[in-house]
Amino acid sequence: MRLFASATGLLAILSVLNTATAAPTNSGFEISWEEAYAKAEKLVSGWTLEQKVNVGTGSGNEQGPCEGNTIASPGFPALCMNDGPTGLRRAYNSSQFVAGINCGASFDRELTRQRGAYMAQEFRDKGVNVMLGPGMNMLRVPRGGRNWEFAGEDPYLAAAVSEELIHGIQSEGVIATTKHLIGNEQEENRYDVDTIMDDKTLHEMYLIPFYHSIEAGSGAVMCSYNKVNGTYACDSDNLMNNILKDQLDFKGFVMSDWWATHSTVNGINSGLDMTMPGDANADSVTGGGLWFGKNLTDAVERGDVSEDRVTDMATRIVAAWYKVYIDYPELRFNYFDSDVHADLNVQRNHKENIRAQGAASVVLLKNEDNILPLKQDSINKLAIIGSDAGPDPEGLNKCQDGSCSRGTLTQGWGSGSCYLPYLVTPLDGITDRADDSIEITSTLDDWDLENAAKIAADADIAFVFAKSDSGEMYIVVDDNPGDRNNLTLWYNGENLIKAVADANDNTVVVIHSVGPIDMSSWIDHPNIKAIVWPGLPGQETGNSLADVLFGDYNPSGRLPYTIAKDINDYVADVSPDLEVEYTEGVYIGYRHFDKYNIEPLYEFGYGLSYTTFEFDKLNVKVNKKKTEKVTATLATASLFVENTGHLDGNEIVQAYIVYPESADQPPKQLRGFEKVFVEAGKKKKVNFEFTVRDLSIWDVVQQKWVVPSGEFTLLAGHTSLDIRQKATFTV
Ligand code: NOJ
Repeated sequence: MRLFASATGLLAILSVLNTATAAPTNSGFEISWEEAYAKAEKLVSGWTLEQKVNVGTGSGNEQGPCEGNTIASPGFPALCMNDGPTGLRRAYNSSQFVAGINCGASFDRELTRQRGAYMAQEFRDKGVNVMLGPGMNMLRVPRGGRNWEFAGEDPYLAAAVSEELIHGIQSEGVIATTKHLIGNEQEENRYDVDTIMDDKTLHEMYLIPFYHSIEAGSGAVMCSYNKVNGTYACDSDNLMNNILKDQLDFKGFVMSDWWATHSTVNGINSGLDMTMPGDANADSVTGGGLWFGKNLTDAVERGDVSEDRVTDMATRIVAAWYKVYIDYPELRFNYFDSDVHADLNVQRNHKENIRAQGAASVVLLKNEDNILPLKQDSINKLAIIGSDAGPDPEGLNKCQDGSCSRGTLTQGWGSGSCYLPYLVTPLDGITDRADDSIEITSTLDDWDLENAAKIAADADIAFVFAKSDSGEMYIVVDDNPGDRNNLTLWYNGENLIKAVADANDNTVVVIHSVGPIDMSSWIDHPNIKAIVWPGLPGQETGNSLADVLFGDYNPSGRLPYTIAKDINDYVADVSPDLEVEYTEGVYIGYRHFDKYNIEPLYEFGYGLSYTTFEFDKLNVKVNKKKTEKVTATLATASLFVENTGHLDGNEIVQAYIVYPESADQPPKQLRGFEKVFVEAGKKKKVNFEFTVRDLSIWDVVQQKWVVPSGEFTLLAGHTSLDIRQKATFTV
């Protein structure tokens, strides 16, 4: 029996490349909001009105070294804010981590937290105070351009990812920004679209990741560009004051998305605390002008805004800073001229996390005849086919904000992208890992199908690579305006797959994609023995893929979204309308497929392993002590997971709750998951805890979370459809 590495075990195995810089690692430094407020109140009490206004005012677009900069006040620096969710945007010699969607696919809390901490170390080493991430919008529409920055279609999974990232980021002295509040699920018309959703949907689906983020201590929340139920998000008293600050007790500050502020008086009175980037020109995207700064001071002097509100605004910003504050190096970063500090290498050993999470987020969709892991002894020749296996012919980082798409896809494009410090392509990764006795033949040309077929026919196993990209709306790539035009593969992908599969009856398809794709034209090809789904794995893509293909890591990634058989089965699509109503309510993703009994191609939570698992003895206990506190534990559960195969591996145990019928909820909803490493032939106990909120629904009349009465069912699943154990309980 070969011993397979767990993701964290892999970390230890990989070599250590330490390029650490001057700043110390100061994990776990964070202080409580109470302590932070005491310090902040003291500092702010010595400030004039103008000094208070300054800390919430952006210094103007492109008026500082960072993407966003505030104005300093006595004892408080001008804060530097920068994207973003995949690494430090527009910085050289810093890492490109796996994308947010891969954090979802890994179902791995530990690696996700470590990703947040490592990324934050790089921000801090370069002197950047605020990370503009994590992004936590929902994968409602499969074509949505920024889905890859987020964690998929389930709010509980997104919440878990967000929580871990925030703990990781803030433990390193960087303020995290949870974004975009709320309803920013498509790129089309994002500056004007009015997202209409009912109160229940808002709370139970789209707010949950923000709720968990706030509990995790997120210092900032970014309000979105769009309107929500008729009001711009950054002007919305209901969203910022009522929901965020009153209901969720958010103690940090609300920052506008770039040019998403629409007013001075209404904005600040509705709860906006910081305007970005603070454009002094009136020709910004929304025609904004300088909403805070002097306009805000004047508004206080006129009596339209109370000075108390401005004090509260400044205190929130300063408290968020004190909460995570550690001794910072000077700013050694320039977003507009990133060459200035290009030599400062902040990558430390971070490639270990990228490789480990890359491997842990590979989803194995199909593996007939156990073609994987590769049995090197019986292979003479491997063919690697498709541009998605190789480098970009233009070179590294040659196009704006990740919009190069000609080589292997490691990220999407837009503000969530960052430079690659180097790239291990799939072709490199496989070539390095294969025994010397194996010959590797390749073509990176997607269009010469004859040549592709020839190379494929001549190999024992043919790997064919294809991709699907998307991004933010300010860049159009291959005619895709941010949102994808369709769910087909890019650059002749379908034809390439068919040509290779026609030529070789041991074809392995590898897809790098921002989200679901339409597989209908090739899925039934009998020669396709395996389908490998690595998402967007960042700079170590080739190595993390090779770890799975050659069996150094036994795959445990799971789909964070549904892949439909027919793309018309999805409940919603990008809409060109200026009013987009979320008529499906909470029924997005698998909730919709479950409700209407639609069979997907691959369900949410799906993913194969090289071993097999069985579950046993699911047991639920209810906490009889009555409590109103939504974070209190209401029920606990345990079960045993047995590895019944011959190889060690990780199982992702998924806990779905079925509410009492009277509650009128989706058929099942993810409310817990555990990644557990079990050696072949062994058993492990897995525990779950469900809080009051996990078992509650949002009561729109009482405006609070309530636990419905009646019988609940807990389903322990290997995927959202492969349910292995059931238990009922009443609370
Ligand atoms: C707009 C994007 O929506 C947001 O996510 C990003 O942080 C800002 N631009 C700054 O780049």
